[in-house]
Amino acid sequence: MAPMSAQTRKVVTDVAIFAVSQVLFYAAFKAVMSSMDPQSSKRKEAKDKSKKALGKLGLDLSALDLNEHEEIMAAEVVHADDITTRFKDIGGLDPIISQLREAVIFPLCYPQVFESAAGLFGAPKGVLLYGPPGCGKTMLAKSLAKESGATFINVKVSSLTDKWFGESNKLVAGLFSLAKKLQPSIIFIDEIDSFMRERSRNDHEVTGMMKAEFMTLWDGLATNNDTRILVLGATNRPNDIDSAILRRMPKRFSIKLPDSTQRRNILNLMLADIKLDPSFNMDTLVRRTDGLSGSDLKEACRNAAMVPVRDYMRSHQVDGQVDLKAVQSGNFKIRPLTLNDFLQSDSAAHVESESLD
Ligand SMILES: Nc1ncnc2c1ncn2[C@@H]1O[C@H](COP(=O)(O)OP(=O)(O)OP(=O)(O)O)[C@@H](O)[C@H]1O
Ligand SMILES: [Mg+2]
Repeated sequence: MAPMSAQTRKVVTDVAIFAVSQVLFYAAFKAVMSSMDPQSSKRKEAKDKSKKALGKLGLDLSALDLNEHEEIMAAEVVHADDITTRFKDIGGLDPIISQLREAVIFPLCYPQVFESAAGLFGAPKGVLLYGPPGCGKTMLAKSLAKESGATFINVKVSSLTDKWFGESNKLVAGLFSLAKKLQPSIIFIDEIDSFMRERSRNDHEVTGMMKAEFMTLWDGLATNNDTRILVLGATNRPNDIDSAILRRMPKRFSIKLPDSTQRRNILNLMLADIKLDPSFNMDTLVRRTDGLSGSDLKEACRNAAMVPVRDYMRSHQVDGQVDLKAVQSGNFKIRPLTLNDFLQSDSAAHVESESLD
């Protein structure tokens, strides 16, 4: 090959430099643009999370063809394996559980069975669980996620809000379209009063728009019988909820403080694995725990179960140290639980503080 003239060499070098500079410019431009995109890191994070969540459900993210907002919301899909609460762990709410099953879950998951009167008894589009704190609302919802067989989307209000104008609306729209793609699905909003509070003129414009979008899409569900989506809310302040929202949740379950039979059920469940003294009188305990919620009962049981352990620790101390040998060898015996353990300082204080309220 003939050697290149000086001029040709210069042209080639210039072209090469130009090409490299263009490539560099493009890379820099892309980097700057993506750093300016407010959603880029959130989107990437959400994509990883939703890939994981949907992968667990055996769904392929690319086959679903999700848009970016649906992808962000897909991160909120809960898989049954990640939940340990089951219906059988809930004490005293059997009538509510069977009603939820029959009136809500069956029509949602098996619409064929209910086809004969489709217009009339399709699944309700909104269900509200309300009642005082600590009585098992969140627990019920969790066990629904585990056992209903529907896709469960646990929406946190923080995931719907976005600092960029209009994004929140798109996220709400993404939530509903995702729910439709994955139907039958349950959109669960815990503490729904904080999200769907009575609207007022002082509301931020974006919040107002977001609520309006949510309600419109929700109405869309009611008119369209093919969509199998249910919005499930839980709250301990039902009076704070917007009346328009309440109207959209025609099926409401009141979860009250447990009565004596319910308390007995709950206590039996909680003390199932604990050795009780033969003298243990459940009737008395049920009577003395009047007015306590499920979560108070759990706390009382925890405190009471601590007493025999503490007694053991105290009685097996050598020079102020616990006798580690016995503990490590697993050769230690903790006495059975007595009723008195419930009435000792800690749990009694708990009961007392309750009755002061
Ligand atoms: N009926 C029940 N049976 C068994 N455990 C219960 C029951 N109710 C409450 N608990 C216990 O209390 C804890 C709190 O209950 P949960 O979170 O469901 O209350 P909540 O009704 O959602 O309260 P809040 O309104 O404050 O959110 C549960 O994790 C569970 O350990
Ligand atoms: Mg709760």
